[in-house]
Amino acid sequence: MSLPLRLGVNIDHVATVRNARGGAVPDPVRAAMLAVQAGADGITAHLREDRRHITDGDITRLMSALPVPLNLEMAATEEMLAIALRHRPHAACIVPEKREERTTEGGIDAAGQFERLAPIVAALGEAGVRVSLFIEPASAQIDAAVRLGAPVVELHTGHYAELDGDARAAELRRLSDAAALAAKNGIEVHAGHGLTYDNVVPVAAIPQVVELNIGHFLIGEAIFVGLKDSVARMREAMEASR
Ligand code: PXP
Repeated sequence: MSLPLRLGVNIDHVATVRNARGGAVPDPVRAAMLAVQAGADGITAHLREDRRHITDGDITRLMSALPVPLNLEMAATEEMLAIALRHRPHAACIVPEKREERTTEGGIDAAGQFERLAPIVAALGEAGVRVSLFIEPASAQIDAAVRLGAPVVELHTGHYAELDGDARAAELRRLSDAAALAAKNGIEVHAGHGLTYDNVVPVAAIPQVVELNIGHFLIGEAIFVGLKDSVARMREAMEASR
């Protein structure tokens, strides 16, 4: 039997549009509140080291305005750890970050970076922040998440979203096997990156997945149908496949 499936709406790209001109509009906090009204269970925001979209001030305002949990995406750095410990969001998702990338291109190498991640995962956990590791759907990464004591993993669906045909089916199997392995080890399973109304359906059907974090497509669709409609339609697509 499938567990209920939550939708976390990532509002980074509302801030991208705002920052294209400087100034205060469009406001990502306003977008977050609208997404909540439309059925988002949580809000996700990535405070990147170069502050290209979400800013420190956005995090402060989100923390005081949101009636739902904030999932702070962050690189595993001392600077981001200090910010996360100051705000204590509901959750922190640790992602790899390269300055020159357009978006988070791959999962964090939890196995290879074990020593660097261990103190960060521990410090966040001690502060009551629910840590998730954004990883590739691979058993070595799940094993490392178990050893790190991370309560949550978020499986990177970016490759799945880019592939088609047999290659997509194979990647979907990797996602589903990784979800089963993580859940068997007591780890909560989230997924995200590159999801759309269409490609979300098989991912939402993986019974162990309990949260999807979706941003770029929803904000893009909002240009045509409004954010409330894009979020509501995504919810419908998710629920139909459960
Ligand atoms: N989950 C994580 C960890 C991410 O880094 C991102 C992108 O910021 C997303 C989900 C959302 O991806 P997208 O914007 O492609 O929906």
